Amino acid sequence: MSKKGVLAIILLGALSFSEVFAQEIVAGQIEKPLTTTLGDPQHGRKIVLSRQTGLCILCHSGPFPEERFQGNLAPDLAVSVASLTAPQLRARIVNASYFNQNTIMPSYYRADHLNRVASKFVGQTILSAQEIEDVVAFLLSLQNTNQQTVTTSKQKQ
Ligand code: HEC
Repeated sequence: MSKKGVLAIILLGALSFSEVFAQEIVAGQIEKPLTTTLGDPQHGRKIVLSRQTGLCILCHSGPFPEERFQGNLAPDLAVSVASLTAPQLRARIVNASYFNQNTIMPSYYRADHLNRVASKFVGQTILSAQEIEDVVAFLLSLQNTNQQTVTTSKQKQ
């Protein structure tokens, strides 16, 4: 089996699943939030750092001084988010394979097209709709930090 296949199976085994609601990507974006409750950036940060739910830093690095081991298989999260809007970030986390068919990044809110899913997980997603919104809110907060840093360094000059 390919390395990617093994990784996918490890991820599917490690991640917890919840019920799916269909979401459509239009022009690389999911315009509307998946829930009516605003995303909670603090909770989003916990998901991104969690070794059980998000697993993001298995592949990504980011501004997380408390985490000694961060991934180097994917762009730094603080850098990747700089030019992406909320609808673009949402779409990438919901379905990374829409943007790159061969990506190793899991599609966190997509229940179709998954192979080798144990029957109890069929029709379920890795993160819940609210968790997706929390992660998007957290990533957007990194963007604000970036902008503040840029502004501050500009002011210093
Ligand atoms: C198994 C590895 C892996 C995991 C886990 C993973 N990613 Fe990714 N991610 C990637 C790779 C690789 C890319 C680069 C684009 C591609 O190949 O699809 C990427 C791209 C992205 C992008 C777009 C970056 C850009 O510049 O366009 C965002 C945003 C992102 N990931 C966020 C996340 C978040 C949030 C999580 C956790 C909920 C996560 N990723 C989990 C591997 C991963």
